[in-house]
Amino acid sequence: TVLILDFGSQYTHLITRRIRSLNVFSLVLSGTSSLKQISSHNPRVVILSGGPHSVHAPDAPSFPEGFVEWAEGNGVHVLGICYGLQLIVQRLGGVVVEGESKEYGKMEIEVKGGESEIFGKGRVGEKQVVWMSHGDEALKLPDGFEVVAQSAQGAVAALENRGRRIYGLQYHPEVTHSPKGMETLKHFLFDVCGVSADWKMEDLMEEEIKVINNTVAADEHVICALSGGVDSTVAATLVHKAIGDRLHCIFVDNGLLRYKEQERVMDTFERDLHLPVTCVDASEQFLSQLKGVVDPETKRKIIGKEFINIFDQFAHELEKKHGKKPAFLVQGTLYPDVIESCPPPGTDRTHSHTIKSHHNVGGLPKDMKLKLIEPLKLLFKDEVRELGRILNVPVGFLKRHPFPGPGLAVRVLGDVTQGNALEVDEIFIQSIRDAGLYDSIWQAFAVFLPVRSVGVQGDKRTHSHVVALRAVTSQDGMTADWFNFEHKFLDDVSRKICNSVQGVNRVVQDITSKPPSTIEWE
Ligand code: XMP
Repeated sequence: TVLILDFGSQYTHLITRRIRSLNVFSLVLSGTSSLKQISSHNPRVVILSGGPHSVHAPDAPSFPEGFVEWAEGNGVHVLGICYGLQLIVQRLGGVVVEGESKEYGKMEIEVKGGESEIFGKGRVGEKQVVWMSHGDEALKLPDGFEVVAQSAQGAVAALENRGRRIYGLQYHPEVTHSPKGMETLKHFLFDVCGVSADWKMEDLMEEEIKVINNTVAADEHVICALSGGVDSTVAATLVHKAIGDRLHCIFVDNGLLRYKEQERVMDTFERDLHLPVTCVDASEQFLSQLKGVVDPETKRKIIGKEFINIFDQFAHELEKKHGKKPAFLVQGTLYPDVIESCPPPGTDRTHSHTIKSHHNVGGLPKDMKLKLIEPLKLLFKDEVRELGRILNVPVGFLKRHPFPGPGLAVRVLGDVTQGNALEVDEIFIQSIRDAGLYDSIWQAFAVFLPVRSVGVQGDKRTHSHVVALRAVTSQDGMTADWFNFEHKFLDDVSRKICNSVQGVNRVVQDITSKPPSTIEWE
């Protein structure tokens, strides 16, 4: 394992992913973890991440007392990146000062020192472009350390103490703006640290199956709510592989789902994945509760409450049938949701592991006392897709766009029962698929506006609804940009919608990024 101690850098997750992409398992721990926590992972290498702090700040985070001695005693290699380098320098007796000129962005560095391990032998004089982002710099190195690369301004760009197996890079090798960064990381892990590239998704899957089997006793039952999304489906499929039909899934059709969603996902669950699923069609129940409700948060609360009632009933029925309450709940929580990272000074340092709420409802009833099984909690989204592929989840399903729990309730602005969002959405999505654009878009949907405008259709004037098309590109939904369709595509979609959907006479496109907008409209 390569352990990354996080000191708050925006690139910490990226380092983890880059290392995993080399088939080496890597985990993130908070930079302020105890020595016991760090050593319990038995790492071969520990990377100290960058961070927004200055090592001189009063509450600057640091590795625990005895860390360096522990690493040396156990043959563990240590690499500090940016703030991590400065921590090493300062804690081992060197001097870090505020740099005269701050270095941000692309810089050229030159490799110094004939014996440099981190760059490899015989590379003295070699220049490379790297991505820097720091204010402080190492002025005097601790005893036994050597500068092995310098920036054009003469600042320390890399250092090492080969005898003690401690290394530092002032720049970020993990970003693509450091073109040779991955080569350096690879060389460091494989040639310097002797790590082997033997981590595979299959191993993680087998490991998780063992853990599930050790956790769930042979007479215990497990429940899982399937949303139709990738995470809950992959999580359920994995648990099913481990414990078979002691897993009980529920899929609730709340009448707010995508076009023909129930048929489509039930087909995948049952025919492709052989999951034991109870499908509850509660459309009328949900829609009657939502009639006349216009406030988005009230809509979300109603949906959440109704969902809990149904889930509760499902659990009680299982109890009657098996003479025992279900003991566990499967959740598709991902690694980014649980990573314990190091927050900036001044913020709350206690990490709360929030349970991913079903349909954003703020959790399940407390008296249910279910223990959680979160088999994806070490994985990033793209790794979940890879695991899904190994578990034979159809590829088309794994590439589905995300869909919000409250579904159409937040896509028909105002009273959800007043709008015909479903048909409009299907025309838009199908056109995107036909144009081969589905996989280039993070999320696309139609928003049904309560606004009516004047139109002329046939020989008659109409006073009908406006529909907005929203399509965005994004990495993680946190920020997003609007997708730029060709005019011909938009023209076709607009025509199709107005010609075939009753009550719509105008189509507009949303051309705002996030921020300042959000992806959804409510
Ligand atoms: P926003 O609109 O905040 O959305 O930019 C970011 C991502 O979250 C989804 N989203 C939701 N998902 N319940 C959900 O389960 C919700 O209430 C909700 N609101 C937004 C949204 O679709 C996008 O992928």
